[in-house]
Amino acid sequence: MKKPLPKGKSMTPNQLRQKYLDFFEKQGHAIVPSAALVPENDPTTLFTGSGMQPMIQYLLGEEHPKGTRIADSQKCFRSQDIEEVGDNRHTTFFEMLGNWSLGDYFKEEQLGWFFAFLTEELGIDPQKLYVTAYEGNEAIGVPKDTETPEIWKKLFASVGTSAEVIDDAAKNGLQGGRIFYYGDGNWWSRAGAPSTMPAGEPGGPDSEVFYDFGAEKKLHENNEFKDVPCHVNCDCGRFLEIGNSVFMQYQKQPDGTFTELAQKNVDFGGGFERILAVLGNTQDVFETGLFTPIISQIETLSGKKYGSDSETNRSFRVIADHIKAATMLATDGVYPSNKEQGYFSRRLLRRAIRFGKMIGIEKPFIADVATAVAQMYEEAYPQVTENLVRIQAAFKAEEQKFQKALATGLREIEKVTEITGETAFYLYETYGFPFELTQEIAAEKGITISVASFQAAKTAHADASRQASSAKFKGGLADHSEKTTQYHTATHLLHAALRKILGEHVQQKGSNITEKRLRFDFSHPAALTTEEKTAVEAQVNEWIAADLPMTVKIMDKEEALKSGAIAFFIEKYPDEVTVYTIGNDPETDWISKEFCGGPHVNSTGEISPIELFKEQSASAGVRRVYLRSKPTN
Ligand code: SER
Repeated sequence: MKKPLPKGKSMTPNQLRQKYLDFFEKQGHAIVPSAALVPENDPTTLFTGSGMQPMIQYLLGEEHPKGTRIADSQKCFRSQDIEEVGDNRHTTFFEMLGNWSLGDYFKEEQLGWFFAFLTEELGIDPQKLYVTAYEGNEAIGVPKDTETPEIWKKLFASVGTSAEVIDDAAKNGLQGGRIFYYGDGNWWSRAGAPSTMPAGEPGGPDSEVFYDFGAEKKLHENNEFKDVPCHVNCDCGRFLEIGNSVFMQYQKQPDGTFTELAQKNVDFGGGFERILAVLGNTQDVFETGLFTPIISQIETLSGKKYGSDSETNRSFRVIADHIKAATMLATDGVYPSNKEQGYFSRRLLRRAIRFGKMIGIEKPFIADVATAVAQMYEEAYPQVTENLVRIQAAFKAEEQKFQKALATGLREIEKVTEITGETAFYLYETYGFPFELTQEIAAEKGITISVASFQAAKTAHADASRQASSAKFKGGLADHSEKTTQYHTATHLLHAALRKILGEHVQQKGSNITEKRLRFDFSHPAALTTEEKTAVEAQVNEWIAADLPMTVKIMDKEEALKSGAIAFFIEKYPDEVTVYTIGNDPETDWISKEFCGGPHVNSTGEISPIELFKEQSASAGVRRVYLRSKPTN
């Protein structure tokens, strides 16, 4: 027989994780291990950013080998939160306790179980819990969720707690209520609100649970929120969201409407670090067992104490979060580099090093902090320790490289009177300064540099080097990079041709370019017929022959999506995005519009005519085609 676990404060991270998994196992769930931080079969996103990410295909209807009730604790990384780190609750790496119903149970069971887990298993006082529900959205035809508040009312009544329902909570404030209606803040999808979701993406109304640390903490008197009426989701810090039950039952269609999925799912995610903080009666996740070993190590290294002042705290938190995240990423194969996922690892480590300097750490230190991370996850993720030697070697090399660059780069910054997008690009190219780092250094001097100005400098540079290389190879053979640039633009033409000929359900699932060919994966249920293959090839060649100009524009993300641009990685993009449009007029007469980082040819006439030479299956529901330049003789 298992020993009963202790309640409340004395609970360790391992005990909490186990308690959650045991509880849901008792409710008939199969317990599965955490998937890796880099999604295996889902190229639409760079990282596993939520517990449901590895479950996507099952939520959409594929049969899960373990049945219809699944639970786990999933490692997550949210790159978009890098800048948020520094307060008491944001982290880029975290674990999400998750349970799923794949067309099995629904609202009643889900809310009841989570409530029982919190109040009975963990012994949390129900008086301190507050919950939310979705007020509906007429524009997408999703009605107000009236069942959720009814269920919550019954649950709270069963423990003798009153629970008033408050409409439009963001405006009305607390008003003595316990159940609050919100708009699209209570809609969950990987891409956010219904309007920002790409076609094919599933989403649904949700119900969050918040823990109240109490007004006596005087958060309102002390901070910027003192003049706004408090509501549970107001960010003042009094309430902490600890879990979210998503009723994942809709899917966005290419025409922007929403239809019901074949099955009604539950997607629950609980904040592991946050629940632990609640149990330890602290609002600061960095004071929980998931951070204290790292924090003490940083105290030893810096000779400073965590908790001494808010600036020191911020540095400690950034260092602790970033090195932990980079260590976990490396365990799953992501090492610092300038490409894709690797760029985030680099940003994390370089930011940590810079914050280390601010609290007086002069020696190389990031590899030492990685040791604390490995020790902490010894039981849950032994792979960290198994990879530690390799991780430390990579971290040391990265630190050395950056120390040198930092010294020279910072001197250069001191010399310039004005920091612009050009400066940021120069530092990026020459010293490997992540753009965001220059942006922060500039901000410390009261200067704002926009992503747009950096992107513009980058594009100008790419154009200049392209012209240089075409001049160099004029009349001769194209160099490799020129060939891959051609194929890169051909990828956009191919994507557009497939969507035109096969239908708008076609979505890019991945691509790979060598100087000899381009490979393209896309969603489509069946093998392409000979006619379809011929038509796709002919369409791409027609656009090449038409010599259509390529336009690049920096746009507001929402605007770009509204204008019909297709986003491939749904979570990766910042608020300002670079959009590449192919066509005679980028507003009114275009055939392709995609979020992309470039580089591309200036007009499609620079691409040699292509042939589609192979078509096959890539995985369930995904086809793969290969294109190459037609032989010229
Ligand atoms: N997917 C939801 C979230 O991330 C619940 O798991 O909040």
